[in-house]
Amino acid sequence: MINNLEEYHIHYRDSVKDPEKYWKDYSSKFLWKKEPSDVLNWNFIDPDIKWFKDGELNITENIFERNKEKADDIAIIWEPNEPNEENITYTYNQLFDEVCSFANVLKKLGVEKGDRVIIYLPMIPEAAISMLACARIGAVHSVVFAGFSASSLSDRINDCQAKLVITSDGNFRGNKIIPVKDVVDEAIESTSSIDYVLTIRRTSSTINMKKDRDIWYHEIVNTVDKSCEAEKMKSEDLLFILYTSGSTGKPKGVVHTCAGYMVYTQFTFENVFQYKDGDTYWCTADVGWITGHSYIVYGPLLRGAKTIMFEGLPTYPNASRFWEIIDKHKVNQFYTAPTAIRALQSFGDKFLEGYNLSSLKVIGSVGEPINEEAWNWYYENIGKKKCPIVDTWWQTETGGIMISPLPNIIKCKPTYATLPLPGIQPILLDNDGIEIKENNVEGNLCIKYPWPSILRTTYGDHKRCKETYFSTFKGYYFTGDGAKRDDEGMYRILGRVDDVINVSGHRIGTAEVEDAINQYKEVVESAVVGFPHEIKGQGIFGFVIVKDKSKDIDYFNKIREMVTKHIGPIAKPDKILVVPGLPKTRSGKIMRRILRKIAANEFDNFGDISTLLNPEVVDQIITAHKN
Ligand code: WT7
Repeated sequence: MINNLEEYHIHYRDSVKDPEKYWKDYSSKFLWKKEPSDVLNWNFIDPDIKWFKDGELNITENIFERNKEKADDIAIIWEPNEPNEENITYTYNQLFDEVCSFANVLKKLGVEKGDRVIIYLPMIPEAAISMLACARIGAVHSVVFAGFSASSLSDRINDCQAKLVITSDGNFRGNKIIPVKDVVDEAIESTSSIDYVLTIRRTSSTINMKKDRDIWYHEIVNTVDKSCEAEKMKSEDLLFILYTSGSTGKPKGVVHTCAGYMVYTQFTFENVFQYKDGDTYWCTADVGWITGHSYIVYGPLLRGAKTIMFEGLPTYPNASRFWEIIDKHKVNQFYTAPTAIRALQSFGDKFLEGYNLSSLKVIGSVGEPINEEAWNWYYENIGKKKCPIVDTWWQTETGGIMISPLPNIIKCKPTYATLPLPGIQPILLDNDGIEIKENNVEGNLCIKYPWPSILRTTYGDHKRCKETYFSTFKGYYFTGDGAKRDDEGMYRILGRVDDVINVSGHRIGTAEVEDAINQYKEVVESAVVGFPHEIKGQGIFGFVIVKDKSKDIDYFNKIREMVTKHIGPIAKPDKILVVPGLPKTRSGKIMRRILRKIAANEFDNFGDISTLLNPEVVDQIITAHKN
């Protein structure tokens, strides 16, 4: 672990001077079935990236068998939706038994190494257990956030040709029960690869169990053994696929592989959170996102840490819930998203009263740029001015945290993710792809050298991986973000420079939302952009051309219903404006920068609009918006 600034500089220097040696040294703390000797092969052109190529391992052996001395320590504390329902805790040994039993259930249902398994679950312990069970037997998990619609779910099942879906009989969310099993049933109707639906009992809701297809977990688990040998995996065998949105087309399956992901998530977890034995760590993310994968499940458990998993919502039963949980479990490291911070801040400080937050040592932020006001509120009211804020910048594709302060080592600076972690070589490029070397500049954030948990491909479509990440700037990994580097060399993330909207820390592709809107029969065409939103960071603004303006239709609600049905509630537009036309270039491309300005209530300085085919439409849209 890096303990002070001098060590950080030494680590950083070594990691750049001889990356292979640096990661080879770190990787020696892991349990390998076969030690790797070939550390790194790569090029960013194809791209082709292989870490620890000739090594063999199983990531779950590195959680359980390797951490033997932790057998009786707590691994997971599960905090349910209802504050008065009892917690469930698992020691490493108990968790190990659960994972092995679950793994044997998967085997019994015919799941084999390399098969894809979809996990569509609420935040119950089985979400983590089933991920690890897949890893134990070499199956590839693909967790789908349980707020996604049936059609999003079937797209993912079809894309990876999954054999099995793991779900539950319901999902407690605040005072609602979400019928996730019904969503699965509907999704499977438009797929053909699923053999079984493994169903976990949680809400005891009445659900349909289809004969020979739907299996109750609590029944089948009684028929299997509690021990399961770890499958021998090659370093570059797939560990998981996680779907994420981009600027075009449907979400793509980001692929992470066994060894590099393992090495990098433990490395970043222990350094960024400065986790010490005995600490209690809590990340509020959902396992449906990469943050949950890397920093609820894999990173903490590889380290042998005590990690909290929370089923509920920050505002249920009221806006004190987070602070109550921190107090109750004496949380030492707390990791959440700016949108949650802003939302809780907006409820007022009275919800903090009576809770003791003095156990906190490090507080973190992830998912979107954190504005200065939220940063200050978090720092003063939650961290009580004594906890460094780790503003961690990274992505689904990066697998782990890339740019972040190390608490009490690298100074924090509001709204800055600050400095790259060892092994990370960021670079700013101008729009022509020329490196901007000086400080106090802004540019396109790229990375020039591989780190162990960089994505390897997009599932089933390597060309798309190349085009999305490795073609804009030849020879570099392009993040899609713009960044500023200040005079001290510190990085501040400015947000996406592509057509991706970041709503409450969730990535939403404009094309996806437009496709959903266009499914509504009254819509001719649509264009979607992000706009500044006080709580969500960015909201979604949809400009639509409709067939017949004279019809009395509630477009706002109709369109939101459509988007909820096709993607999920997280992608619902916040605003809909019916317009007579969309600003297009002669080649038919929508000039989104104009729409972005209008959505942000900026009505001048549109820049060069001489290439517009229909410049008059700009004023018409402005007029429509002002009315
Ligand atoms: C995008 C990645 C990986 C965490 C969850 C989101 C934005 C992420 C920060 C931050 C400013 C951030 C970027 C990035 N982002 N963290 N600390 N400061 N922006 O993962 O869904 O893959 O989204 O989230 O725009 O590209 P994701």
